[in-house]
Amino acid sequence: NLEALDKNFQDKVDREIKIEPKDYMPDAYRKTLIRQISQHAHSEIVGQLPEANWVTRAPNLRRKAVLLAKIQDEAGHGLYLYSAVETLGADREDTIDDLHSGKAKYSSIFNYPTLTWADMGMVGWLVDGAAIMNQVPLCRCSYGPYARAMVRVCKEESFHQRQGFEIVTQLARGTQVQKEMAQESLNRWWWPSLMMFGPNDAESTHTAQSMAWKIKRNTNDELRQMFVDATVPQAELIGLKIPDKDLKFNEETGHYDFGEIDWDEFWQVVKGYGPCNDERVAARKKAKEDGMWVREAANVYAEKRARRNKK
Ligand code: 3HC
Repeated sequence: NLEALDKNFQDKVDREIKIEPKDYMPDAYRKTLIRQISQHAHSEIVGQLPEANWVTRAPNLRRKAVLLAKIQDEAGHGLYLYSAVETLGADREDTIDDLHSGKAKYSSIFNYPTLTWADMGMVGWLVDGAAIMNQVPLCRCSYGPYARAMVRVCKEESFHQRQGFEIVTQLARGTQVQKEMAQESLNRWWWPSLMMFGPNDAESTHTAQSMAWKIKRNTNDELRQMFVDATVPQAELIGLKIPDKDLKFNEETGHYDFGEIDWDEFWQVVKGYGPCNDERVAARKKAKEDGMWVREAANVYAEKRARRNKK
């Protein structure tokens, strides 16, 4: 009966046995995984747009090639994650339609504009840096396909983070104008990067249940703290100032204390009223419309092939 199935399921999770697509799982577990993995995939796909803005403006061929490689990686991460969603019985197109209708979320961070070349460094260093903090624990997620997808994704994220930090380091150690450009960019991207980790644990809808099901292995605030502790020394190393007057190393705890996040801004952006939300969703809708002829042609070809094989 259902009670016994749920108990057996939780025992497997508690004993670190991976849940596979064909295994029994509570509907709520399946539902929250479809929610999280599809929105993770949307984040990867939408996350390409802020960087696309700089492919034709990169300062040299090497930077252009590295940025192109990173953007292509993100497309691959999206493909991986949409495939992981399909193992749960979800329809990929339905999740994408939910993104286009505004029903589904994607990471708030991608609703900010990329105004200078230094932003390409910040996106790599801070956004992919935060993504790594959040994705490494997901390699130990109780759902097999998601955990396995994250192993490959994390290897590529490390390259993304390193190339971003290299860009920022070069600017911070460059001319006065370059250093100022890097600092101005850090001032715009620091707080939105902290928001990537989601609401404080006390306000988080899903954290408690996701921890019990070992979908999450750390809470939002734990990961945010790990990100701040790892990133502040990197900024200090290259002489950039974190834009937080309350930031202070706490000798007792061994962590950095930091200021309060502007949660009004966070929820405004999540609800669709950020600087670039309309532009990002419109770009995704246009991509689907412009690509319809490819789908139609592929479907006609597949039908013809199926008819030929029947003969
Ligand atoms: N942006 C948009 N929505 C957010 C958010 C953010 N930064 N943080 C939280 N939310 C939403 C949640 O989706 C949830 O809404 P929902 O119920 O409609 O889905 C609500 O706010 C409450 O938040 P919770 O903390 O309760 O939700 P979760 O337990 O799902 O935690 C999360 C949020 C930490 C983002 C978690 O979903 C997660 O770990 N997702 C997988 C990783 C991911 O999606 N990262 C996003 C960036 S990917 C990236 O940057 C890759 C880079 O290489 C491009």
